[in-house]
Amino acid sequence: MPQYSFSDIPHVEAKVAIITGSNEGIGKITARELVRKGWHVIMACRNEKKAQDAIQEIRTQIGNNGNNNLKLDFIQLDLASYDSIHKFVDEFHQRHLSLHLLINNGGTYMPPFALTNNGQESHFGVNHLGHFLLTNLLLDDLKKSVPSRIVIVTSRSHMRCSNIEFDDATRNRPYPNTGLASYRARNAAYSQSKLANMMFCKELSERLGTHSKLFCNAVHPGIIRTNIFQYVNILKILLYPFMRTVENGSMTTLYVATHPDIETKNIHGAYFVPSKRIPPPYIRPAEVDPNPIVLNKTVRERLWELSKLLTGLTYTV
Ligand SMILES: NC(=O)c1ccc[n+]([C@@H]2O[C@H](COP(=O)([O-])OP(=O)(O)OC[C@H]3O[C@@H](n4cnc5c(N)ncnc54)[C@H](OP(=O)(O)O)[C@@H]3O)[C@@H](O)[C@H]2O)c1
Repeated sequence: MPQYSFSDIPHVEAKVAIITGSNEGIGKITARELVRKGWHVIMACRNEKKAQDAIQEIRTQIGNNGNNNLKLDFIQLDLASYDSIHKFVDEFHQRHLSLHLLINNGGTYMPPFALTNNGQESHFGVNHLGHFLLTNLLLDDLKKSVPSRIVIVTSRSHMRCSNIEFDDATRNRPYPNTGLASYRARNAAYSQSKLANMMFCKELSERLGTHSKLFCNAVHPGIIRTNIFQYVNILKILLYPFMRTVENGSMTTLYVATHPDIETKNIHGAYFVPSKRIPPPYIRPAEVDPNPIVLNKTVRERLWELSKLLTGLTYTV
């Protein structure tokens, strides 16, 4: 792909997307640009006030002048709670909509050690298990609306782990909350969750098969100036000059979510990054190799079974 920008997003009619964690950061811009191109976007966020504010902001930015057809809704979703995820899916089903695109974007980075409502370490619980459950519960909807897509927002941090830590089988082993040890442990927990995202992407796409018209791929958005660095302000200060804008950060996701290449080239289970910087407003999306451990089918299947057990799913693809 030589260069890519918002103007390359195709216009659509009557297509529906769900984006998790879209009240701010990369997710909010992704929602805005999809709505601008005719998508009906369901913002799946945990905080209603933040989501409604984001909806207002997007409407103002796109310009509501006579454009009351902008389709942008909110359904509450807390990825740290299986009850909330089931409730979200029930409410989505009550709306009798098709589903063409699921973007697993929401995420948490280096908060102090805490457990989700279901008793798992928060990075693994929110970033991986919450999305594993949500995706599996929405899979039939996506299959019914093919051609359809799943985009999993992982991170280049997934490269930092050598494997999934299966010795912490219940995923609730505490780590220190002060000093350098805490920094290291939180960083490692984030990388684990992002490796799990990448493994889930690869395994799900293999289970769907290369003949499937449901395309599941993963992205690293770049190092982006967002609120994700709220628990590590020092990193934000140090990396600030090298960070890309949030607009730039949404482009790799938007490319994988909407570009015709994904279907014409039959791309499944791939990992995309914004390759070397080019002058704004462009990026150059490129498919690159993920962490080699992602290719290990045995590890992926073990992670799948663990995730199934921890989320209480009885049936998956
Ligand atoms: N920024 C980067 O440099 C970078 C680099 C690599 C990967 N990523 C990935 O990009 C994705 C988006 O991050 P961002 O940079 O845009 O961060 P952000 O601005 O902090 O946005 C994160 C979003 O996730 C939501 N979220 C967090 N916990 C949640 C939960 N339990 N349930 C539902 N939603 C939840 C947040 O909601 P609240 O507002 O309610 O907290 C927020 O809307 C993440 O998956 C992140 O790991 C980012």
